[in-house]
Amino acid sequence: MLQNAPPIKKHPDIAHILLTPQEIARRVDQLGGSISRDYADKKPILIGILKGVFPFLADLSRAIPIPHTIDFMAIRPFEGHGAGGAVQILKDLEETATDRHILLIEDIIDTGLTLHFLTNWVREQRPASLAVCTLLDRPHRRLVELPVLYRGFKVPDHFIVGYGLDYKQQYRHLPYVGILAPAVYLPN
Ligand code: IMP
Ligand code: MG
Repeated sequence: MLQNAPPIKKHPDIAHILLTPQEIARRVDQLGGSISRDYADKKPILIGILKGVFPFLADLSRAIPIPHTIDFMAIRPFEGHGAGGAVQILKDLEETATDRHILLIEDIIDTGLTLHFLTNWVREQRPASLAVCTLLDRPHRRLVELPVLYRGFKVPDHFIVGYGLDYKQQYRHLPYVGILAPAVYLPN
C-alpha cells in the first residue's frame, strides 16, 4: 500500500479489496513498459475482449507510447462445460489480423476456455505473431493450456468484481478489484 494513497470508499457489497487503484495503476504501467519494449517497430494491434476489458485497455493503451492500434471483440461469455469451450462471436475484428502482431487483452483468465477459442479464431487469419495479456489470472483453474506472455496479478479463487469485472453487469465501475460478498450471490 502506498503511504499517501487516498482512503478508498468500499462498496457495501465488497467483502475485501484485493487490488487498490494505486496497485493496479503501477502494474499496468509496468505491463505497458514491457509491451513497448517488446513491440517497438511492430505496430501491434491490441484486441480487447469486451466488456470487462474496457478500463484495463484504456489505461494500458495510455501506458504504451509506441505506435499501436486498438480493436475489440465481443463474445457471449462461455458458461458451463457443456459447450466444449465454444463461444459465440458477437463482434468480430474490424482490422484484419493477417501479417499483424496481435495482442489479445483480457480482464481475467480462469479456465482459459474463452481465450483458447479466441486465439484459435484469430490464428486462422495468420497473424505475424499472437500473444495474450491479462490483468488477472487464476492459473490453477486452467482447463486448457494457454500461454500468457503478460500477466498483471494472480488472484485467488473467489468471485471478484471491479475495474471492469462484473457480477450481473454490476460493479464494473469500481476503481479497485475486490471480492464480492458471497451474500450478494448465494441464496440465503
Ligand atoms: P474463462 O473462459 O474460464 O477463462 O473465463 C474468463 C471470463 O470469465 C472472463 O473474461 C470473465 O468475463 C469471466 N470471469 C471469470 N472469473 C471472474 C470473476 O471472478 N469475476 C468476474 N468475471 C469473471
Ligand atoms: Mg471477460
